[in-house]
Amino acid sequence: MSQSEASRFDYLVIGSGIAGLWFAYKASRHGSVLVITKKEDTESNTNYAQGGIAAAVAENDSAAIHREDTARAGQGLADPEIVRLVTEAGPGLVRELFDLGVKFTVYVDAQGQQRFDLGREGGHHRRRIIHAQDFTGYEIERGLLKAVHSQPGVTISEEHFALDLVLDQDERCQGVRVLNKETGRVETVRAKATMLGTGGIGQAYLHTTNPLIATGDGIAMGERAGVRVANMEFIQFHPTSLYGHSLEGRAFLISEAVRGEGAILRAKDGSTFMERYHPDASLAPRDAVARAIDSEMKKRGDNYVLLDATHLDPERIRERFPNIYNRCLGFGIDITKRPIPVVPAAHYVCGGLAINSWAETSVERLFAAGECACSGLHGANRLASNSLLEALVLADRAAQRVGGLEPLPARSLRDPESGAAVSTAFDPPDESSEAVAAEVRNELRRIMWDYAGIVRNDSGLTKAWESLAELEERAGRFSRHLSVFCQETSNLLAVAQLVVACARRRLESRGLHYNEDYPHKDDRFKKNTEISREEPAAAKPDPTG
Ligand code: FAD
Ligand code: SIN
Repeated sequence: MSQSEASRFDYLVIGSGIAGLWFAYKASRHGSVLVITKKEDTESNTNYAQGGIAAAVAENDSAAIHREDTARAGQGLADPEIVRLVTEAGPGLVRELFDLGVKFTVYVDAQGQQRFDLGREGGHHRRRIIHAQDFTGYEIERGLLKAVHSQPGVTISEEHFALDLVLDQDERCQGVRVLNKETGRVETVRAKATMLGTGGIGQAYLHTTNPLIATGDGIAMGERAGVRVANMEFIQFHPTSLYGHSLEGRAFLISEAVRGEGAILRAKDGSTFMERYHPDASLAPRDAVARAIDSEMKKRGDNYVLLDATHLDPERIRERFPNIYNRCLGFGIDITKRPIPVVPAAHYVCGGLAINSWAETSVERLFAAGECACSGLHGANRLASNSLLEALVLADRAAQRVGGLEPLPARSLRDPESGAAVSTAFDPPDESSEAVAAEVRNELRRIMWDYAGIVRNDSGLTKAWESLAELEERAGRFSRHLSVFCQETSNLLAVAQLVVACARRRLESRGLHYNEDYPHKDDRFKKNTEISREEPAAAKPDPTG
């Protein structure tokens, strides 16, 4: 395809995780769909999900109880209407996934009825985590890809990197500019609706459970196109990632479900500590556990704490957690015999592109779902296993919405940043620009970990803000280079700035945002933090605004 030529589909999806694939599967009932994804189709945060997907399917459970748990975790910021929609739609959609061939773990009860095996995780007052042993995400990806491939109207283009959204003169999204990694050329894809399912931002932090794809591209692209962004200060740190081993740039997760089955956290000397921090001890909500571990490690000067599952039935551990058991064994740790060394790691971003209950962003014809979006479900803190659910429900609603859309009239395209006609003005990549990008990426990940991490304070956040501004100057050396690494690094810098900008505006501690200079909630801040064209990231914090 020549650079000026545009291909057209009814619906364009960026990302092949649960949000993108579910939207593609459902939207294909209304028209042709192109899914572009920057690596192989399986590579996504979804693929590594372990614990499962939350839905109120047990007899002693209900959407109302799930709603209460979700709202409680959100600490006053979860949107009640979205919480209701998602918790009510959950059981039906999970059943649809199962019927489509996603092999969740099931058992047959005394009455001969097939039931989902339900796991338990922090903050849930019922067993409601539907899972496929401990490789739920892998199984969901497998099942969804199979379903999507069986739809004749869906095309998946792997190794295609979305560079930027294209808007028309009426500020409507008309599609995206894409780097075809195989040909090295920039192509334009136009569609009557574009769905961003680009996932999270974990790679903005030095330690993360997220794979290398999690570079915040969709959030950065959306912000450049003028989409409202919300609540980026709420970064969830998972308390238990395996200490001392990295797998292709990510820390290996030890699922919260292991604590759900009875494993306990201990300090290196073997003593327990969680009971001093929270009445639910090792199964307290994630923010409380991550902060407690951080505090114990700092107090004791230790590099890790221990997760002890040695008192549990070894057979049950091997059967319920084969992925964790085998992976740890590969690192020389038999988790049925030895406690696992663990540390917190950046895991999930609750904020993102602000969407309404149909997954529409503030830019017409642009939708977003999954981790890159902020629907309002999680508020200030996400309940475990609610993110796969949120992605599924909002992608489903978006697919319902796009069914009725008229084609867009052909208009000339505008570059979202410069306002110019769509341009392909990139510089060719070169080794020195990649080297500068690598330095900038390493530094920003360290800055975010040190100053915008589990425990924050004003001087640290100011330092982060200033250091990121310095990096932005250096990023000028590579930001127009046509290289995935350079473009991802620019995007990481943009999302890091959004996190710090939002964190600097929230002069209180709530949910996942803990600032030791304001250790309590302050109800003047009981609202979302929003960044928009009118209130850009660089605006000063305003405690009364
Ligand atoms: P992803 O699954 O991350 O997919 C994003 C897609 O976008 C990828 O295909 C990526 O390649 C593509 N992409 C990104 N940028 C571009 C670009 N510029 N151009 C083209 N393509 C692009 N949540 C739960 O609810 N339960 C769990 O048990 C659970 N366990 C987890 C365990 C781990 C280790 C991790 C990391 C997360 C876990 N989560 C869990 C969170 C959950 O997995 C994610 O929030 C969810 O899978 C996100 O889905 P998504 O579709 O939004 O994004
Ligand atoms: C886990 O298995 O602990 C991860 C669950 C989640 O992030 O929701």
